[in-house]
Amino acid sequence: MHRTYLLLLSACGVSLARMHPYLYGVPKGPGMDMEELAVVDVVSLALDNSTSLNATRPRPTSPSAVPSTPALAEPCAVVSSTVQGLPPGSRRIVPAELGMRCLKSVPLDQEGNVKLIDDLKLYLAWQSNLGFLKNPPAEYTEAPVDIIEEMNGMQEQLKSGGYNSEYDFQTDLMSLFNRAYDNHLAWQPDILAGVIQFQRPAGTELVSVSSDGRALPEIFAYRDLELANRDKSFQPSPVRTINGRGVEEYLQSVAVQADFHDADTRWNALFPSQPLIASGTTFLGSFRTGEYQGPNTTMAFTNGTAKSMINLAVVIADFNGVNSGATFFQKFCRGPQPVAPPTTTQAPPSVSVSPPSSTPTPTPSHIGYPKAVILHPNLSVGGYHINETGYDDVAILSIPSYDSPDVQLFQNVMRDFIRLSAASGKTKMIFDLRGNGGGNAILGYDSFKQVFPQADQEPFGGTRYRANEALNMVGKISENFEAGNTFVQGNQTAFLQAFGASTPEDISLFTAGFNPVHQLDVNNERIDTWDQLFGPETINGDQFTTTIRYNFSDEPSYTYPGFSVIGFLNNTNETATPQPFTSENMVMLHDGMCSSTCTIVSELLKNQGGVRTIAIGGQPKVGPMQGIGGTKGAQSFNWDDVQIRTQIVYFTGSPEEQAQWNNTALGRTAFANQLFTRTAYAGGRPAGGINLRDNLRRNDRSKTPLEFVYEAADCRMWYTAPMINDVTQVWKGVVDRMFTADDSGMQGCVQDSTGHKSSVSGGGQAKSGEVPPPPPPEDEKGAEQLTGAAGSLAVVGKRWYALLLLVISVIL
Ligand SMILES: *[C@@H]1O[C@H](CO)[C@@H](O)[C@H](O)[C@H]1NC(C)=O
Ligand SMILES: *[C@@H]1O[C@H](CO)[C@@H](O)[C@H](O)[C@H]1NC(C)=O
Ligand SMILES: *[C@@H]1O[C@H](CO)[C@@H](O)[C@H](O)[C@H]1NC(C)=O
Ligand SMILES: *[C@@H]1O[C@H](CO)[C@@H](O)[C@H](O)[C@H]1NC(C)=O
Ligand SMILES: *[C@@H]1O[C@H](CO)[C@@H](O)[C@H](O)[C@H]1NC(C)=O
Ligand SMILES: *[C@@H]1O[C@H](CO)[C@@H](O)[C@H](O)[C@H]1NC(C)=O
Ligand SMILES: *[C@@H]1O[C@H](CO)[C@@H](O)[C@H](O)[C@H]1NC(C)=O
Ligand SMILES: *[C@@H]1O[C@H](CO)[C@@H](O)[C@H](O)[C@H]1NC(C)=O
Ligand SMILES: *[C@@H]1O[C@H](CO)[C@@H](O)[C@H](O)[C@H]1NC(C)=O
Ligand SMILES: *[C@@H]1O[C@H](CO)[C@@H](O)[C@H](O)[C@H]1NC(C)=O
Ligand SMILES: *[C@@H]1O[C@H](CO)[C@@H](O)[C@H](O)[C@H]1NC(C)=O
Repeated sequence: MHRTYLLLLSACGVSLARMHPYLYGVPKGPGMDMEELAVVDVVSLALDNSTSLNATRPRPTSPSAVPSTPALAEPCAVVSSTVQGLPPGSRRIVPAELGMRCLKSVPLDQEGNVKLIDDLKLYLAWQSNLGFLKNPPAEYTEAPVDIIEEMNGMQEQLKSGGYNSEYDFQTDLMSLFNRAYDNHLAWQPDILAGVIQFQRPAGTELVSVSSDGRALPEIFAYRDLELANRDKSFQPSPVRTINGRGVEEYLQSVAVQADFHDADTRWNALFPSQPLIASGTTFLGSFRTGEYQGPNTTMAFTNGTAKSMINLAVVIADFNGVNSGATFFQKFCRGPQPVAPPTTTQAPPSVSVSPPSSTPTPTPSHIGYPKAVILHPNLSVGGYHINETGYDDVAILSIPSYDSPDVQLFQNVMRDFIRLSAASGKTKMIFDLRGNGGGNAILGYDSFKQVFPQADQEPFGGTRYRANEALNMVGKISENFEAGNTFVQGNQTAFLQAFGASTPEDISLFTAGFNPVHQLDVNNERIDTWDQLFGPETINGDQFTTTIRYNFSDEPSYTYPGFSVIGFLNNTNETATPQPFTSENMVMLHDGMCSSTCTIVSELLKNQGGVRTIAIGGQPKVGPMQGIGGTKGAQSFNWDDVQIRTQIVYFTGSPEEQAQWNNTALGRTAFANQLFTRTAYAGGRPAGGINLRDNLRRNDRSKTPLEFVYEAADCRMWYTAPMINDVTQVWKGVVDRMFTADDSGMQGCVQDSTGHKSSVSGGGQAKSGEVPPPPPPEDEKGAEQLTGAAGSLAVVGKRWYALLLLVISVIL
């Protein structure tokens, strides 16, 4: 009857890092069909012709038409009637200003928002880096932010009538979260993320390129560069001003909306991402999609021409029955609605897009990329060779994502490509990690082992939790459960009532991350008790658990049943494989957007492997650039991941225990309600959550979460115009700079971008990763067969999932 199965499967730790990373501060609401965007707007296609430009314009209304009819004076009523009046097949768009006025007309829920912040505070107790955000180390480039204190202030402001509308409140709270610059910490509220999305019209995509690879980059219209590529007589002119302000100053004001902790990354995030578009994720940049940016966009070019366009609001929810701010609230702000069937006005989802080049491309294919040697069918990883003199010893692994439901296939693709490359005489390797927002955490550790298979290269992978009260109870009760001591384990009837057909193994698997049996300590030794694991340790004014490590020989520890990391379990044989490339002959290519799982592999490659980094792009000024601007957290939990864990342990208790737990953070977290009512939903799950685990560096006595550690790339390069349309030019640019020079290792880098003390070539790796040498390798016991609960992940509870009805209803 209840198909909670799906929800639970997705929540059970099959993936550790966020599976569907939010598009970097650009909310993707439910029903928001990125395919549609891809079809209408993909910039690499010949869309700058008059018909398609017309098609992106809002036809029935213009801002001046808005107040004309008294009956339609309510902006939400105008949105509603406009969308209904659109001809079938057209995009559901209205002028941005109208969309914004509709959102602003939603009445404030003063009491509900006070409660919402109470809930958020409970869940943020799990956010690993609150203390470091409040008091960051000097090398952190962003301003400190005390999230809890500022939320307290917002509660006061609510009570004293300091907000006019729900929109103002949500905007304030969302920008507070954004100042954590942690893309695992996401709050995606109903109004801002679930109903309307703001965009500039198609064709406003920009790009930042250097004329010759040395000069500071200038801003161009993306499509101008494509046009120039096709028509050599066309000479594009740079953008001089936007909406009357200097282009750089204006773009800096837009860039801050992206939740990266590095200004160069936020700059890059303004523009379309070559690797993401190539792999089917239409990331057009935060200049094109994101927050409301005023009613129109006017660009003036240096040749004197100016262009003005109306900004758009894409209506992603069904406005049937909405005719005012109050009815908007009734419909969209009272918890998830059943997923609406596709509306008649929605564009047909599949219009075939032909790749721009005439060369035949294999299926599947990275759009616009050369023919791959090997390609994962989901385009998450592809291997390339460059068949040109001077470049024919180079292999490229393009990894725009670690999101792969089939981790085994991902491992195989990568391993096959590395073997094939080594066998065909390739001696150099580029890891192109641009755009990579993470995915399945285990693949981060595995990718490192793919190129460092030897037994003494054990991935450190030290992590920890923020030591909060609910976590402590979850850990203690899980430990009791492991020992068979909880109430339900002594009472069959109670167990059945609480957990239905689920087995104790299912419950163990869900809570494995908090079970000392499945964690190792910092020295890779067993941890005897939860109390020993929990600590807490006081660091930088906040409290944390001790440092824990995965046991890669223990499936529940890393939660990917049936998968063996290279060098462990079924892949223990790989420790005899020779290292395929030397450290000097490998390099990572970063554009800053690397987050989550991507930063796990980057940390290991750099600080254990001594692999250098080249960063591309960034603000138009010389100097070093960090390769990574995304969260370096090692695991995210969605809001419901936290809730499910607390509910599971709660329902192992006796009625007396439960009554007592109701007065603690455990009970309050398990039964929080307002947070789940006022969030946007994506794919049936509440959108957003926290960073659960800090990632730590081996031998770092300060135990600083890695996102607060400044790390310059070894070298930095600019994009040039030819690179925008031809990824091979990017890779050749990397080879030229990183693999062809003398002892210094590099040449042709952006002025003053080399030799930073935090980079490998500046000595940064030796300082952090090499001293003292790692402990001797563990004695591997060969391929052990484990009896994980692989086949039976479905926890079909009754009582506790009934309390999740909010979440469940959208899955059914
Ligand atoms: C303009 O777009 C239409 C529809 O996508 C296409 O059929 C036509 O060939 C395009 N024209 C040019 C000049 O690109
Ligand atoms: C596009 O706009 C131009 C100029 O306003 C107009 O002449 C043309 O008919 C329009 N095309 C379509 C398909 O609406
Ligand atoms: C000026 O430059 C812009 C942007 O490249 C271009 O669209 C426009 O056609 C140019 N104007 C003239 C008069 O050449
Ligand atoms: C753009 O918006 C501003 C502010 O509403 C307005 O003053 C200006 O006339 C608009 N420009 C165009 C070209 O629509
Ligand atoms: C690589 O180049 C050689 C020589 O030009 C050619 O024979 C071969 O077919 C090319 N291989 C690929 C995969 O393009
Ligand atoms: C490809 O992606 C789809 C959708 O996310 C997923 O269902 C499928 O399992 C993936 N396939 C592989 C081989 O990873
Ligand atoms: C076992 O649990 C059931 C259901 O909660 C309860 O009715 C019964 O009293 C319990 N038995 C004991 C011995 O506690
Ligand atoms: C890691 O897990 C394996 C399999 O459960 C176990 O045999 C081994 O003892 C564990 N390692 C440590 C150090 O506890
Ligand atoms: C190891 O291989 C066996 C036999 O193929 C398989 O059943 C098991 O799931 C694998 N275990 C791991 C952790 O890969
Ligand atoms: C090691 O064993 C795995 C699983 O049986 C296999 O896929 C892999 O090819 C083997 N590796 C080597 C180097 O033999
Ligand atoms: C605990 O609190 C929840 C939510 O308020 C409530 O449904 C439940 O009955 C309470 N349990 C006990 C044993 O008081």
